[in-house]
Amino acid sequence: MEVVIVPDAAAGGELIAEAMAQLLRRKPDALLGVATGSTPLPVYQALTAKVRSGAVDASRARIAQLDEYVGLPADHPESYRSVLRREVLEPLGIGMDAFMGPDGTAQDVQAACEAYDRALTEAGGVDLQLLGIGTDGHIGFNEPCSSLASRTRIKTLTEQTRIDNARFFDGDIEQVPHHVITQGIGTILEARHLVLLATGEGKADAVAATVEGPVAAVCPASALQLHPHATVVVDEAAASKLK
Ligand code: F6R
Repeated sequence: MEVVIVPDAAAGGELIAEAMAQLLRRKPDALLGVATGSTPLPVYQALTAKVRSGAVDASRARIAQLDEYVGLPADHPESYRSVLRREVLEPLGIGMDAFMGPDGTAQDVQAACEAYDRALTEAGGVDLQLLGIGTDGHIGFNEPCSSLASRTRIKTLTEQTRIDNARFFDGDIEQVPHHVITQGIGTILEARHLVLLATGEGKADAVAATVEGPVAAVCPASALQLHPHATVVVDEAAASKLK
């Protein structure tokens, strides 16, 4: 695992956007795995700037979703499909035909999870998976004590994660769904390059456990230690509890 400490979130965004741009120059139809939440926004903004300046062409890129709320209509503004359309696909000029994600509205959620896991493999696998990290060490929505070998499946959000995400739902935790479909940790580990971005002091404990703790289900992100090509990009605040 490579740990890169950057001065701030913007520098982390620029670094990761450049890694994505280099990948797209080498492989124009690369499958980029993307996360939602606040942390990745500087990455998407920096990559959009590169596309708009002509530094990279993302027109053939394919986008894969990491996780999705269960039960929110696909066109709900906070469904992760909507968020990614707004924050990634439209700015980069990528059509929905190049997007893949789990169906959070499926009647048979289990079948939808299995179908998405299979679809990722059939698409050739994710080339670069961008990850954020929860204050409790989750990646995707693999909450603490998720199996490190897990596949895409339905998970129940912890109270802490619902509190953390209430800010996207007018601060009202009652509106935050209880369930999500998430790529499993085993699924995430199949991506060819994992890039985790963590910014802010609130992530410092989780980053320390990820990088310096034992590989343990109690900190799902520690599974990155098992991956042959994992990069952890942290700002100084998120790095503050590293030894
Ligand atoms: C969301 C996801 C989550 C977030 C994590 C951090 O798709 O996969 O693991 O990355 O909850 O969220 P932020 O970046 O909002 O602190």
